[in-house]
Amino acid sequence: MTTITVNGSAHEVAVDPTTPLLYWLRDALGLNGAKYGCGLGQCGACTVVVEGEAVMSCVVPVVALDGKHVTTLEGLGTADAPGPLQRAFIDEQAAQCGFCIPGMIMRAEALLARRPDASDAEIRATLQTNLCRCGTHMRILKAVRRGADAMRAASP
Ligand code: FES
Repeated sequence: MTTITVNGSAHEVAVDPTTPLLYWLRDALGLNGAKYGCGLGQCGACTVVVEGEAVMSCVVPVVALDGKHVTTLEGLGTADAPGPLQRAFIDEQAAQCGFCIPGMIMRAEALLARRPDASDAEIRATLQTNLCRCGTHMRILKAVRRGADAMRAASP
């Protein structure tokens, strides 16, 4: 039996082992933060963090994640108590349609966990894999910068 820990809680996976992680998160666990964009690993809307790495969950089968830790957008905070990066995206009004934002946040979260003082160039290079059709790239960049500042200020 495949067991995956999601946002700190262990779950036994009772679906076909080839089911993409994205489908299982949304359909079995009701975690709808990760979005279905292309289903082909090309847009980044479905990005989650697996063992500290940003992963496009639409192209990873659940069987490949046995024993692994997954963090989704829901693991960073709630609507009432958003995490620092989520708060920064709200404060910068980074979203237009908002569809890409969960993936952007998760990819940026993985970067900042590794590189808390990431440069603008690093942030841009990292987020290149995530597409935004509305073109709010500059606001997204500002939000990641703001979130990074908040996270550094909050860390001991
Ligand atoms: Fe996964 Fe587009 S939905 S990369």
